[in-house]
Parts: sequence; structure tokens; C-alpha cells
Amino acid sequence: MTIQPAPEVTLANGVKMPLLGLGTWPMNDAEAAVAVAQAIGIGYRLVDTVENYGNETGVGEGIRASGIPRDKIFVTTKFNRKWHSVDGARQACDLSLQRLGLDYIDLLLIHWPNPDQDRYVEAFAGLVRLLEAGKVRAIGTSNFKPAHLQRLFDRGFTPHLNQIQMDPYHRRDDLVAIHRQHGIVTESWRPLGNGNTMTSDPVVTAIAAAHGKTPAQVLLRWQTQQGFVTCPKSADALRQGQNLDIFGFTLSDADMAALNGLDRPDPDMFDADEFGH
Ligand SMILES: NC(=O)c1ccc[n+]([C@@H]2O[C@H](COP(=O)([O-])OP(=O)(O)OC[C@H]3O[C@@H](n4cnc5c(N)ncnc54)[C@H](OP(=O)(O)O)[C@@H]3O)[C@@H](O)[C@H]2O)c1
Repeated sequence: MTIQPAPEVTLANGVKMPLLGLGTWPMNDAEAAVAVAQAIGIGYRLVDTVENYGNETGVGEGIRASGIPRDKIFVTTKFNRKWHSVDGARQACDLSLQRLGLDYIDLLLIHWPNPDQDRYVEAFAGLVRLLEAGKVRAIGTSNFKPAHLQRLFDRGFTPHLNQIQMDPYHRRDDLVAIHRQHGIVTESWRPLGNGNTMTSDPVVTAIAAAHGKTPAQVLLRWQTQQGFVTCPKSADALRQGQNLDIFGFTLSDADMAALNGLDRPDPDMFDADEFGH
């Protein structure tokens, strides 16, 4: 099964990025190598990994095994708190490049702000240097809240993208509004809720039935129809294909309103002021 690659969004520096890619947590190297090659064969052109997952080597193997030229694939990775300094970002980038077996990264992100150590602004300064050096094509953040972004703005820095937990249950409207105001692309992680009740929510299943789609396809369409990038994880070829095959239908305004109505407080949500690595 081959599916049309996802449409692209343009980051503030003109770099284009697919709207939908493959998440790779919690795959190990061997699993990632198989899943990434399989997904690229199906039509994926964006792969999301992290130093912390320990699978960058496998992601790189999967990219090479796919037979698709490197410049047709968009690779995102992220680094941990220990690298939060100008030189630390450089070292983290070099180590990710070695593990991936690549000579540039498309998008490098600070994985979590870790405000307890208060070095994320310096880490971003390091990202700017990497961008200037051509080691990365775009730079950004993950799990940054409004106050963390403001600290970057105050130093004259604007990430190209902020990757956050965001879905109909967690709409994050305040953060998304700040992204839009500053030209930051929003990317969501955990778009299918990873085992929570979102894919069996009656509102989602009813919209899916009405369109002849799966609940996962409705949830991913909700993301991409708003211009958000997203990266569902699946190791399964059928589900990988279904997750990419969402660009041939449109959710109505009423569908979007119903999905938007699912937003609710979540006391268990990770708080980037308390949690990070
Ligand atoms: N920046 C961050 O801090 C951060 C944090 C968490 C995650 N992420 C990224 O976001 C990615 C996605 O998040 P996630 O993996 O936590 O959750 P997710 O993508 O929302 O859900 C993944 C789970 O859903 C299943 N699934 C996939 N497609 C499906 C479908 N069409 N129908 C039913 N079930 C389906 C997968 O199982 P199968 O494999 O069996 O299909 C897997 O168990 C991660 O892989 C990672 O790359 C980033």
C-alpha cells in the first residue's frame, strides 16, 4: 500500500515540513529500523525521534533502508537537559548526527524546558548557532509553556516550532494563540491519546462512522485541518497507512465544534514546570 505523502507546512524560515509523520516512542533501535523503513515505503516523509528514546541509530538505519533519498525525508530529534548550554547544544547535535548517521538534522528541538536548572535560553542560543552553521535546517522547542516562550522572545529568539501535548481533550488554546501570534508552527505529540479513551469517545466514533473513517483518522484530521503538524506512533503497517491516509476528507464546521467541545482539565497531564528530561 502506497499513500500520497502528507501536504507540507512552511516554517518561518521558509523550510517546508510534512504535516504528518511517524512517532517512534517507545521503539528500540531494532523496532525503529523496521517501522521507519516500512512507514517511508508507505509514504511517510517525516520521522520524529529523541535522544532520550535511545532509537536514533535505528531511525537512521530505517531511513537508509527505505531507499528514499535523504533530502526527501524530514528528521526531527530533541536533546535532554544535560545539554542546555551553547556548547551543550552543539555536542548534543553532533552525537545525534553520529547516531542517526546523517550529516544534518532537519529540525532540532529542546525536549523539555527544565526551568529548575534555568538554562533553556542558553540552549536555544546554541540552536541558533547550529542553524547558522548549517547543521540543522530548523530549530525549536518541545513542551514549552507561555512563560518559557516569553523568556526566549525577551532575548530576541523565536522557535520555528513548539511540539506539545495537544488533542481535542487538551486543546491548549492559550499556547496555540501565542504560537500563531509569533509565527511558530504547532506540532502535537500523542495525538491519539496513547491508550486513553479518546479513540472510543462517542463524539469521535460518531463522526468517524459518519465519514466512513476510523476514530484515529478523525483525530489526526482534526489536527492537520487546523494546520498543526502531528506524529502518531504506529509500528503496524495497516495503522501506519490509515494514519497517513487522512487528507482526502474534510471535517465539517459542526464536526470541528463537536471535537473542540471535548476539551477538559486533566490533572495527570505532564507539567513542564515540574517534569522533564
Ligand atoms: N515531545 C515530547 O515530549 C513527546 C512526548 C511523548 C510523545 N512524543 C512523540 O509523539 C509520538 C506519538 O505519541 P505517542 O506514541 O505517545 O501516542 P499516540 O501516537 O497518540 O498513540 C500511539 C498508540 O496508538 C496506537 N495506534 C496507532 N495508530 C492507531 C490507529 N490508527 N488506531 C488505533 N490505535 C493506533 C499505537 O499502537 P500500534 O503501534 O500497535 O499501532 C500506540 O499504542 C511519540 O511516538 C513520540 O515520537 C513526544
